[in-house]
Amino acid sequence: MLTKEHVLATFPAIGAITDAGLRSLSTDVWRYVSDRNHAWDDIERIPLHPSMPIVTHGNLVTHILGMVRLFDLLVPMYAELWQQDMDPDAFRAAAYVHDAAKVIEFSEHGGALEAVPGYNHAVEAGRIVRELGGREDVAHMVEAHSFAGPLVVPRTKEAQLFLLGDPMCLNAFPEQGVSAIERHLSANGWEDPKTLERYRSPRELLSP
Ligand SMILES: [Fe+2]
Ligand SMILES: [Fe+2]
Repeated sequence: MLTKEHVLATFPAIGAITDAGLRSLSTDVWRYVSDRNHAWDDIERIPLHPSMPIVTHGNLVTHILGMVRLFDLLVPMYAELWQQDMDPDAFRAAAYVHDAAKVIEFSEHGGALEAVPGYNHAVEAGRIVRELGGREDVAHMVEAHSFAGPLVVPRTKEAQLFLLGDPMCLNAFPEQGVSAIERHLSANGWEDPKTLERYRSPRELLSP
């Protein structure tokens, strides 16, 4: 089980969220998903995906911490440069809970970690936020955060920025194998455009 104490020890900056509802939502969602799959007892052990080993790509915690830090930079920048005022607490809470449904999605079978086929962890997390009485703006940011499945088109500036920030905070680059962009293209059934002039990575040049 993932206790509230464990979630707060893993993400101590949840305590810095000023909105009390968003602060409790940030731990409540983890408790909800842990009730659905008791197997996980340490968030640090959760990978980004069973196909992305922690040793190569880092874990889910570093992805989440990266998103919190990215939006703590971007939200004031958009206010200053484009007078787009957005709630930093909404981004923090969305970052902490957006991938929590991977606790339900990933489980061990025969000693190997597997993802439930067809499971949409983003849509499910948005549904959980609403079921727990969380704010609609945060529910939409969460449900529309992922390219790794059928795309939910973001309908707010916050959701659009949040979607763009998610793949930026993945340690999944062409030098490490299938990149974040390639993974997202194939998850949506999109082909790598076959343009005549294209950059060929060192990895492609090495392959026959
Ligand atoms: Fe995700
Ligand atoms: Fe994510």
